[in-house]
Amino acid sequence: MGSFFYMSNNPIGFFDSGIGGITLWKEVHNLLPYENKIYLADSKNLPYGTKSDKEIERISFENSEFLLKKECKLIIVACNTATTKCIDKLRKKFEIPFIGIEPAIKPAALNTKTGKVGVLATEGTLGSNLFYKTSNKHANSVKIIEQSGKGLVKLIEQGKMDGDKIKNLLKKYLQLMINENVDKLVLGCTHYPLIIKAISNILPETIEIIDCNKAVAIQTKKVLETYRIINLNKIESENQFYVNSENSILGKIIDNRFNITKI
Ligand code: DGL
Repeated sequence: MGSFFYMSNNPIGFFDSGIGGITLWKEVHNLLPYENKIYLADSKNLPYGTKSDKEIERISFENSEFLLKKECKLIIVACNTATTKCIDKLRKKFEIPFIGIEPAIKPAALNTKTGKVGVLATEGTLGSNLFYKTSNKHANSVKIIEQSGKGLVKLIEQGKMDGDKIKNLLKKYLQLMINENVDKLVLGCTHYPLIIKAISNILPETIEIIDCNKAVAIQTKKVLETYRIINLNKIESENQFYVNSENSILGKIIDNRFNITKI
């Protein structure tokens, strides 16, 4: 565990390309309400999904350094794209623990009855080595149908979560899964739970939608306990949000008692 010296009341840091990681932040906040938290919405670099490995690496290093300057004791990479492309490098470079999120293929593959699982994720995630390795592990027992959600993140960040544009894109992307008879759809991008209504309106009820935000929150608690840095003080936590571009809709999706700082 090295010379790890942070205190339990230091904050947990989060970053994503914008508001997507808030879906994970919410699960962590529900499970760990007394933990102080700092969320960085890196909307100036949006979207991550189409960027190269090198770019994602550079951006992720920069975001982590920002959070470390704020003395975060642990960082949650609240983004599938950044996790699958570079979490191993972040763990190597920085001393504090990193938690990531990647498409929940395993639970979907273990529970499918049709033997077919759909994964909706960014191009970056689907093209990553980590995704390739994980999906390959299950390739013998199940058929995985991959679909990139090109264009979805941009619309979500513009607040267009229920309009015709997003509905038409989703119809196109999900029809393939429906035709293939999948019975599990894995949401492999933290932005997608924000459009779960639009997604479930298109999918037949027989298809279960899976995301692993809850599982990642549970994993975070375990890691905090292992490192003995869980905050045992039962006092209201401080929750700070930072955003680095003007046009973010972050304010619309978090509780207005929380402060947002533009950096
Ligand atoms: N929310 C992120 C993810 O989980 C990034 C989406 C993007 O910026 O393309 O992949």
